[in-house]
Amino acid sequence: MRGFAFSLEQKLLDLAEEAKKALEKAQDLEEINGIRIRYLGKKGELTQILRGMGALPPDQRPRVGQAANEVREAVEAAIAARTAAVKEKIKQVRLLEETIDITLPGTKFALGHFHPLTLVQRRIEDIFLGLGFEIAEGPEVELDYYNFEALNIPKDHPARDMQDTFFVDAEMVLRTHTSPVQVRTMEKMAGRIPVRVIAPGKVYRRDDDATHSPMFHQVEGLAIDTRITFGDLKGVLQTFAAEMFGVSTRTRFRPSFFPFTEPSAEMDISCVMCGGSGCRVCSFTGWLEILGCGAVHPRVLEMSGYNSEEVTGFAFGMGIERITMLKYGIDDIRLFFDNDLRFLEQF
Ligand code: PHE
Repeated sequence: MRGFAFSLEQKLLDLAEEAKKALEKAQDLEEINGIRIRYLGKKGELTQILRGMGALPPDQRPRVGQAANEVREAVEAAIAARTAAVKEKIKQVRLLEETIDITLPGTKFALGHFHPLTLVQRRIEDIFLGLGFEIAEGPEVELDYYNFEALNIPKDHPARDMQDTFFVDAEMVLRTHTSPVQVRTMEKMAGRIPVRVIAPGKVYRRDDDATHSPMFHQVEGLAIDTRITFGDLKGVLQTFAAEMFGVSTRTRFRPSFFPFTEPSAEMDISCVMCGGSGCRVCSFTGWLEILGCGAVHPRVLEMSGYNSEEVTGFAFGMGIERITMLKYGIDDIRLFFDNDLRFLEQF
């Protein structure tokens, strides 16, 4: 009988060894759990061995029972130790995988940027703000009175044909130019001087080709004071041209006609492409027309509450699209409104 007890104890020790070896090889928690079930589970090997205890003489049972408990505890301790080790290894592997390589190129976010017309409008505003002008605004849906009547363009006046108008109703139009803001500004100023404003904004005409869009942008300028002369107008616009297109830019003024200015002129700048020697852009004239201007017509001053005997003024109006096309060498106005990123991303 001693021999049986002895062999039972030996079996227990062998089992402990076997379990420990198996644990050493275990690589994950699932494997460890499998080992626990195999050795310590209800149908596990330790349980199987303990079944044999019933055959032992009673005096030997305590010793074998104690040995069995020791083996159970040893295997449980080994399982706990291996579990901790495996968990630590999993953590290390994850940390390693999560390591950030800061030398890798980052994810690029596409940054939005300003539309070329916005850039040029802001540049124009900056230049005139620097010359002491303030920014004024007016509605795009405008009364016939402000768009035409108060600018000395009465009904049936042929000058209304110069600008193909979008009508809203008998009294309202989509403004065909920013000049109505001149009138609104004079009304608001109620005869006070000096007046120095620019009015940027959208305007509308029934036009549509490579150089005309039914909606486009203008910047209006208006100055009123005592003793304002055509020389002031030329000085301001020459300064503008030099700031916008470069110091070597020359200007010239050609006589023209607008109902709201007298005398009226169109200003040309020396060609931005060839510098004046003649090229395709300037149709080999060396000059590019960029704006209309003139001395404010006395009737316009009077209609809006200014005494044309006491004050004079100048006004000008330019198309932002045209300035932008010349500045960047763009040959089709429709590019501004197609929303083609290949075009827009160049600015
Ligand atoms: N309003 C004119 C146009 O749209 C431009 C202009 C403005 C001319 C002010 C003279 C003075 O063509």
